[in-house]
Amino acid sequence: MKNSHYFINDSSLSSQKKRLDVSILGASFVFHTDLGIFSKDRIDQGTLVLLKSLKIEENKSILDMGCGYGVIGVYLKKLYPNCKVTMVDVVDRALALAKENSIVNNIKDVEIINSNFFEKLNENKFDYIISNPPIRIGKIKLFEFYASAKNHLNENGKFVIVVRKDQGALSHIKNLENIYKIINVLDKDYGYWVIESCI
Ligand SMILES: C[S@@+](CC[C@H](N)C(=O)[O-])C[C@H]1O[C@@H](n2cnc3c(N)ncnc32)[C@H](O)[C@@H]1O
Repeated sequence: MKNSHYFINDSSLSSQKKRLDVSILGASFVFHTDLGIFSKDRIDQGTLVLLKSLKIEENKSILDMGCGYGVIGVYLKKLYPNCKVTMVDVVDRALALAKENSIVNNIKDVEIINSNFFEKLNENKFDYIISNPPIRIGKIKLFEFYASAKNHLNENGKFVIVVRKDQGALSHIKNLENIYKIINVLDKDYGYWVIESCI
């Protein structure tokens, strides 16, 4: 059987592009999606809960880790044009869509990088690292990602993730407590918990 799991680069995967016209918290966006990409038919509810909970300061740097087709990065750059936004994913098709979606939403000056988590980001640091993380890679790899995120935060930086309660949000918090000084649950909605960690 063909493996079309959303974080595998599968060059044999056929294309069936789709256009989503959406309003996110009162602002209008167009997103192009395709087969094999996370949440291709609608904006993920967890992503919406995450975006609703965020309070971003002007002129900061933001990393959207695991950007998929670019919802978080495109939304934040639109709302906070003075922030520097970087989007990272490991799936070529997702990155091509994130680029396309930046263009269709008139977003300029975003950096879009193909990287296995922080591998290609060198010593780059950010004020916010924001992620709807790829839960299916399993806790060992996810928790490695959570630990490495700390090394890529500026002073007073925040690492913000969204995890479903029934996907083990509590165990994610326990793990984060071993890494970060302060943990805040910013919101709990539709079964999703938004967890902010500060160094
Ligand atoms: C749950 S999806 C979130 C997608 C998008 N941010 C959203 O909110 O709709 C997780 C994303 O992480 C990406 N991902 C999986 N493994 C990764 C890795 N090792 N490095 C970077 N991104 C990865 C997947 O390709 C997927 O796009």
